[in-house]
Amino acid sequence: MSEALPTLAARIKGARRLTILTGAGVSAASGVPTFRGRDGLWRRYRPEDLATPDAFARDPRLVWEWYAWRRELIATCRPNAAHDVIAAWSRNPGCRVLTQNVDDLHLQAGTYELVRMHGSVWELSCWERCAPGTTPWRDTRVPMTNLPPRCPHCGCIARPAVVWFGEALRAQDVDAAVRATACDVFLTVGTSALVYPAAGLVHDARQQGAFTAEINLEDTPASAAVELALHGSAEQILPAIARLL
Ligand code: OAD
Repeated sequence: MSEALPTLAARIKGARRLTILTGAGVSAASGVPTFRGRDGLWRRYRPEDLATPDAFARDPRLVWEWYAWRRELIATCRPNAAHDVIAAWSRNPGCRVLTQNVDDLHLQAGTYELVRMHGSVWELSCWERCAPGTTPWRDTRVPMTNLPPRCPHCGCIARPAVVWFGEALRAQDVDAAVRATACDVFLTVGTSALVYPAAGLVHDARQQGAFTAEINLEDTPASAAVELALHGSAEQILPAIARLL
């Protein structure tokens, strides 16, 4: 670790184009539960019951109760030092941030050029895909009453504007993410690197010649593929790197 921090800091300092991919681990210190960590959501709940189009078609109220509970929890969370460092770096030209997180914490920290690959829990869209309802609208009510909420355009059931298992990401987000793999340094932070297409980006970046690095509490499938795998928490390692710049 002692050599790794200055090495990564020097790479970031020298990079004209820096891309950062984040996952739930970046928000863990803010109190947002991860999915696959020790107290991860997928240890207590089954994704196929709560995070698929089939689950929603079967029982929209149940799915909404779970999202309403998560929204209440997330609403009390604030950005941590990892979000702050990423936000500061994002103000440099050539820096792009891709996140799988559906909380708003990167935005609250002031991150520029943010691609939200899995959407936002604070946005809704029309389940029936009525024309105006395909553009997500913001709904930050906490707590939510009268579940499931309705589309203000057609009156049908509304859904969380997040990407569920079995669904495609928005084309413009995929395009932006793929473009961002053309970079000098690609840093993957706090993600289990299991969910595609996000998990494939670090490999694409490396193939194109980027220096790749990972920050995570533990090894992931990406660890063996990156040039530098740093073990530790994002909220400690990122500020430590920032101090070396
Ligand atoms: P996961 O919960 O799968 O992984 C979180 C990762 O963060 C784990 O590898 C932890 O070791 C690491 N971690 C935890 N705390 C950390 C900290 N303080 N600093 C650094 N690393 C830490 O979350 P994601 O990889 O984001 O998708 O999950 C990807 C997608 O799977 C999510 O967007 C979600 C989920 O199902 C959908 O809901 C579609």
